Amino acid sequence: MRNDGFLKILFIGDIVGSAGCKYVSRQLNNIRYENDIQLVIANGENSADGNGITPFSADFLFRSGVDVITTGNHCFRRREIFDYFNSDRPLIRPLNLGTAAPGVGFVKVDLGFCEIGVVNLMGRAFMTPIDNPFSEMENFLKSNNLNNIVVDFHAEASSEKKAMGFFLEEKVSAVIGTHTHVQTADETILKNHTAYITDVGMCGSKDSVLGIKPDIIIDSYTEYVFKRHEVLADNIQLDGVIITLDYNSGKSVDIKRIQHSL
Ligand SMILES: [Fe+2]
Ligand SMILES: [Fe+2]
Repeated sequence: MRNDGFLKILFIGDIVGSAGCKYVSRQLNNIRYENDIQLVIANGENSADGNGITPFSADFLFRSGVDVITTGNHCFRRREIFDYFNSDRPLIRPLNLGTAAPGVGFVKVDLGFCEIGVVNLMGRAFMTPIDNPFSEMENFLKSNNLNNIVVDFHAEASSEKKAMGFFLEEKVSAVIGTHTHVQTADETILKNHTAYITDVGMCGSKDSVLGIKPDIIIDSYTEYVFKRHEVLADNIQLDGVIITLDYNSGKSVDIKRIQHSL
């Protein structure tokens, strides 16, 4: 158990298909050990082959050492996951999908020496129209008095993500962007409190488009024909950030990007 007042959190970007899941399963223990990680959060919305998340891919990630799985616009792509979202497993979907949708948008993890909340939000620019993530988060903060909160903001537009970072500075410990699968180089600590990055990246093939074989995506742009997405399994890279959190104050003191490959 840690008792120096600091918690190191690894946040992994969207894990794509069985190739991404297997990489996490094989490498996560080493990454945990080398970086002294106590909590692992990962976006699993694309963890099933063919997209979405299934009970099988969620179980696989939990067994591999992921502590909390967040999702995004692909959370309900597979019907078989609905009951799993309603179980007590730490799998969450965007908070601003409302209360009628399966599952919840927030989970609290008790590490013994500290508690940490994880919230999943989804953006609206160039995405499915849903409830306002800014006002939903504001309401959430009024009724949840937690020192340590990490937000996965799953959104397309960098402007919406930057705005959310500034909106939540000093209110939460971290705002981590997901969804574009491309890691940005703008990691920072806002107001000496809130770790921020526009997009953390993905765990998928470096030679792919969003983890998918490029030819399939090129065809969709040139022929306007949708083809079944096939995950590219070669040359996998795990993109993430490691956040160092002063858990007594709720302030992040460091955010470091990683791009782990073999
Ligand atoms: Fe994704
Ligand atoms: Fe997404």
